[in-house]
Amino acid sequence: MFDCPYSLETNAAYEKWRDRKLNAYPGKAEDLLTEIRDPVNLTKREIDSIRKTVGLANFALYQSRGVMDKADLVCFAAQLGLNRIVANPEADQYGISTLRVDSIDPRPRYIPYGNQPLNWHTDGYYNPDSARIRSFVLHCTSPADQGGGNRMLDHEIVYIRLRDENPRFIRALMHPEAMRIPANVSEKGILRNDTVGPVFSLDRCGHLNMRYTARTRSIQWRDEPVLDLARQRIATLLEKSDCIFSHTLQAGQGLICNNVLHARTGFTDSANQARLIYRARYHDRVETTPHS
Ligand SMILES: [Fe+2]
Repeated sequence: MFDCPYSLETNAAYEKWRDRKLNAYPGKAEDLLTEIRDPVNLTKREIDSIRKTVGLANFALYQSRGVMDKADLVCFAAQLGLNRIVANPEADQYGISTLRVDSIDPRPRYIPYGNQPLNWHTDGYYNPDSARIRSFVLHCTSPADQGGGNRMLDHEIVYIRLRDENPRFIRALMHPEAMRIPANVSEKGILRNDTVGPVFSLDRCGHLNMRYTARTRSIQWRDEPVLDLARQRIATLLEKSDCIFSHTLQAGQGLICNNVLHARTGFTDSANQARLIYRARYHDRVETTPHS
């Protein structure tokens, strides 16, 4: 019978999984890069490499030799099991969002569409459970003239550090009312109802999902001292964990991940060097081997 490593009732499965994960954890972002020749026709070796890398750190980087448009991105992701796209109102007919600074509206309503720094979060933390984002792909068509680097931290590492320090942190973060996001209201009315849910949760297959934002404005946390402490510990880890990866995507490169924690530095475009990123988000996760 399969023992869930995330069960707080017993430590044996958890410790076995944790030790294997930490022993195999990659050292630097470049260790996570797979070169791919044709994104719409991946070889078995390329698929295996990406899956294996995601199995280690919940994300992988790729460098495509071929140019990728949005239809290619959809096809690329489908070969890795990502089919059920989660589109937001800004997405196009493919369900893909185009992230670039709009010269007409350089300070948009949503930070990802501007050039300001983007604080630590997982995607879709404001979504209801029915629209949970389990993975996403960021594909870089063109980097910024300066800045625009990403930082990534595997949410399973955060889980491990917190549980090893105090399992009550995990229990508090798994409370079904741990974090409430108020409704998104514009002059046109309610764009999204308020959502309440846990920070850490398990999907039906027993995989760990994290719902988190480092922003403090308009986030209502459950009033519980141990939850306050857990949040402080997460903030410390996001500041100085030695498991944080940093990488600035170059043209033709992309990031594919099981919705790990991530942040972005601010950036500056120039007349002939402007950041252009395609973002596709999915209900599916990149399958690896169970809890490998
Ligand atoms: Fe994001």
